[in-house]
Amino acid sequence: MARITAGITTSHVPAIGAAIDNNRSAEPYWTPLFAGYDWTRRWIAGAAPDVVILVYNDHASAFSMDFIPTFAIGCAEAFQPADEGWGPRPVPVVKGHADLAWHIAQCCILDEFDMTIVNKMDVDHGLTVPLSLVFGQPDDWPVRVIPIAVNVVIYPPPSGNRCWMLGEAIARAVASYPEDLNVQIWGTGGMSHQLQGPRAGLINQPFDQAFLDDLTADPARLRHLPHIDYLREAGSEGIELVMWLIMRGALGADVRQLHRHYHVPASNTAVGHLVLEKP
Ligand code: DHB
Ligand code: FE
Repeated sequence: MARITAGITTSHVPAIGAAIDNNRSAEPYWTPLFAGYDWTRRWIAGAAPDVVILVYNDHASAFSMDFIPTFAIGCAEAFQPADEGWGPRPVPVVKGHADLAWHIAQCCILDEFDMTIVNKMDVDHGLTVPLSLVFGQPDDWPVRVIPIAVNVVIYPPPSGNRCWMLGEAIARAVASYPEDLNVQIWGTGGMSHQLQGPRAGLINQPFDQAFLDDLTADPARLRHLPHIDYLREAGSEGIELVMWLIMRGALGADVRQLHRHYHVPASNTAVGHLVLEKP
């Protein structure tokens, strides 16, 4: 049977992708950020997942004000890097796992989660920067990826509790897939950041550290954190953190924290990164 073995959370700041693509990751500004991913790169080589379910948000690259799915699942064979205005990132095409994606879509919809099925979707920094942070610059990504795009751009985003419950439904779906697959689930975005308005540049380290503590040890508090608290404490784009709760809900009650990294700043953003394993 397929099984979810581990979860990763990481920020997905586009400037990180630009630093990698333009060979600037050895500059003093960037070295402490990338150092926090060295452990993960060694670990993932041994963990060798077959498939990553990658929870991220589209930043008006694939979707627009015309069309705003709350939860979209990518069921295509492949996903092209999106043109975000500076041209698509020079990274490999993202190969999907259409059969498992359709299985998850079917299970979740019959389990009363109304997923939007997407058969053509370009993927932006929200998805490709986490792949670069964890896998570096390979000729081909060494995993199949099932993108799950969550609306956190236009109000109203889903509640944290709904995200958690979707994670549980995804885990049930994976557990009922007959092929023997090692599956990871990643939650991206965050941590505190605000890109607009008078509070642009906001970063709240105590909020972020408490979020990292509780995601592992006491996630019940985070499930019921209201949107307004994310806005006040973590800034308008800090709401991306609800996506981490899909990952955490999918892992279940017991997790072991293998690795934790926090770095401020990367561009305008506080960067947080966790590797969690199911014992
Ligand atoms: C930044 C961070 C993001 O998550 C994003 O999607 C765009 C920009 C930033 O820090 O600049
Ligand atoms: Fe973002």
